[in-house]
Parts: sequence; C-alpha cells; structure tokens
Amino acid sequence: MSSLALMRWLEGTPARYDTGMRALTFGRVGRLHAAVARAAVRAAGERVLEIGCGTGAVTALLRERGAHVTAIDQAPEMLEVARARLGDDDGVEWREQTAAEIDALPEGGYDAVVLSLCLSDMSPGGREFVLRESARRLAPGGRLLAADETRPRGRLARLVQRLWRIPQSMLAWLIVGAVSTPLDDLPGALRAAGLQVRSEQRWLLGTLSLVVGERTP
Ligand SMILES: C[S@@+](CC[C@H](N)C(=O)[O-])C[C@H]1O[C@@H](n2cnc3c(N)ncnc32)[C@H](O)[C@@H]1O
Repeated sequence: MSSLALMRWLEGTPARYDTGMRALTFGRVGRLHAAVARAAVRAAGERVLEIGCGTGAVTALLRERGAHVTAIDQAPEMLEVARARLGDDDGVEWREQTAAEIDALPEGGYDAVVLSLCLSDMSPGGREFVLRESARRLAPGGRLLAADETRPRGRLARLVQRLWRIPQSMLAWLIVGAVSTPLDDLPGALRAAGLQVRSEQRWLLGTLSLVVGERTP
C-alpha cells in the first residue's frame, strides 16, 4: 500500500473502528458490550452516564434497554459516527468533553456509569480521578461498569498476552490510532474509588474483563 493510500485509510479510522475492534478481540468485543449493557440497565428509564462512548456501540445497546444516556467523548469524529449510528434519538444527550470534566455533572445523578474500553487509554492519575468522580456521580445503590483490557493472572496467559501484544499494538495503532495499556488490578481500582465490587467476568484468557462495582448507600 502506498503511504498516501495508508494515510487516507487512517483518516477514515472512526468509521473503521468497529470492524477493527472486532478483529483485535477475535470477535469478543460484541459479547463484552452486551454484558456491559445488561449489567448497566436493570429497568427502562434508568439514567446512565457513558464515558468514552466512541462510535456508540454500547450507547445503542443501552438505548435498546430503555436507558436515558448521557454519552461523552473527547473525540468529535467518534461522536459524529455515534450520532449517525443512533440517528435522531432524544434519549441520548451527546457531549463533546473529556472525562476530566465529569466533576461538573450532578453528584448522585446517575443509576449507572459505563466505562467501556476507555480507562486503559488514560494515565494512572487520570484513571484514579475518573473512577473517584464517577463513583460520586452514582446514586446510592448505583453501579459502575468498567470493561477493559486487563493483565491475566496466570503466568502462561501473561506470556501469551506479551507475545500477542507485539502484532496487536501495531494493528491497534493502524486501526484505531492508539495503543492502550492493559490494566493490572481493575477490581482494586474500583475498591480504591470507594465502590463495593459485585462481580467480575473475564474473556480471552483474562485479557478482557468486566468488573461491576456498586455505590453502597
Ligand atoms: C477504545 S474506544 C472505546 C469506545 C466504546 N466505549 C467501546 O466500548 O467501543 C475509547 C474511546 O474513549 C474516548 N476517550 C479516551 N479517553 C478519554 C477521556 N479522557 N475523555 C473522554 N473520552 C475519552 C476516546 O476518544 C474513544 O472514543
């Protein structure tokens, strides 16, 4: 491929993002998203804050379950794809902003906060801030859903991950324009933000996880 053709291809990244993520996760991203939406919305009408909504794949599933969603992302081009995916849906409030600004949103104003494949893009300090402030945005009994790339616990699985990350990082850079860092202790990070960990699901040898935390009354 000539470098010009490669540049054109990269410019279209958000539109190719979903296909790219399916390839990078061997198709497991769909299961992860479905599990996030199921755990986030218990009843129609619940208020969900989604941080780093990307192209709106999870947003669409949250809406199917009847949630009212505040979807934020710092990347205007990702939001554009998400808006096009959901069309004219007055059950979603789209916000172009960074997660560093969530402390301006109402405290206790949400039944669930969703962070899908977003925390691993952040610095350790940014992650700590976002988890702590997300916990504050939850109503008592509200749930925080953190789904992300994680480090497996077993030694063999860690070795497989290390080897797979070499081609995966190159592919990720080409497809989504970023390389994430797998998280070491996602349940511990939720506990440090003051949440009770209610469940943990793992896929792909433990390299993808969904952890559900709850704000106790
Ligand atoms: C890997 S994508 C995941 C998108 C979607 N949540 C999913 O599960 O498919 C990460 C998204 O988070 C957004 N993001 C990363 N860090 C962010 C931050 N600090 N504030 C707002 N958005 C952020 C990126 O712009 C990108 O759209």
